[in-house]
Amino acid sequence: MVAPARALYVPVILGTVRQGRMSLPVARVVLSELSRRPDLETELIDVAQLPLRVDDAGEATKDAGFSEKMRRSDALVLVSPEYNHGYSGLLKHVLDSCLKEYVHKAVGVVGVSAGPFGGARGIQDLLPVLRELGLAAIFWDVNFSTVQNAFDESGTLRDQAYLPRIDKFLNELVWMATTLRHGRERVAMPQSESPMRCPKCGAEMNHHAEKVLQAADPAEEWSVDPALGGVVEEMHSCPACGANASRRASAPA
Ligand SMILES: Cc1cc2nc3c(=O)[nH]c(=O)nc-3n(C[C@H](O)[C@H](O)[C@H](O)COP(=O)(O)O)c2cc1C
Repeated sequence: MVAPARALYVPVILGTVRQGRMSLPVARVVLSELSRRPDLETELIDVAQLPLRVDDAGEATKDAGFSEKMRRSDALVLVSPEYNHGYSGLLKHVLDSCLKEYVHKAVGVVGVSAGPFGGARGIQDLLPVLRELGLAAIFWDVNFSTVQNAFDESGTLRDQAYLPRIDKFLNELVWMATTLRHGRERVAMPQSESPMRCPKCGAEMNHHAEKVLQAADPAEEWSVDPALGGVVEEMHSCPACGANASRRASAPA
């Protein structure tokens, strides 16, 4: 594979705040395997460490630091424990705080469960959510079943068979992240016109996606497309510096 000019940024999101969570050693193993890879930056984003607002929902709860990391990311690894045959509610709450930041980025899910299915049920339920966020899910998962037996008391992985599975999962994720970055930065939407200038470096950006959003403010009603039922937001990425930005479809260039 041709190495990208800029390192890919692939954070690992640990999706639970539960005391004694076994998803933490799982996230650490995946992070460690990611960290070995060249041309890639990663870090652990622990939802327990985010300044999480629970008095509202959606983009109203956006944290500037988390939003910037999502905007910068090329792919996400979600470590998702299975709770009552579903995914973690707090993981969903945190993901819901962003929207445009995710568009045409790759995502892979690591399921974690005490039972025998390795979080598979939660992963299946998460997939339509990820699609609505604009993320592109890979088809490899990693499934940590009976996770309470997978690590020793010091948090060291007992079953080394997980490592080649994580390797295959990361191979696909990196391929997808590389491919989608190329698309975001170089493959334009059909009939794309009036290029946007990069707010960071001034280069001509590539228009790679459009998303219909609800007008948040009555003053924005002028920009509602009646046929589409909302405001069309264009997503642009910069081939020179990798910045992502968006604008109303009807805005002047
Ligand atoms: C509210 C709740 C519901 C759970 N439901 C399931 C379940 O449906 N299936 C299962 O295999 N494990 C279930 N578990 C156990 C977790 O999968 C287990 O704790 C595992 O280690 C992953 O979660 P953790 O990171 O919080 O430890 C549940 C745990 C909690 C706290």
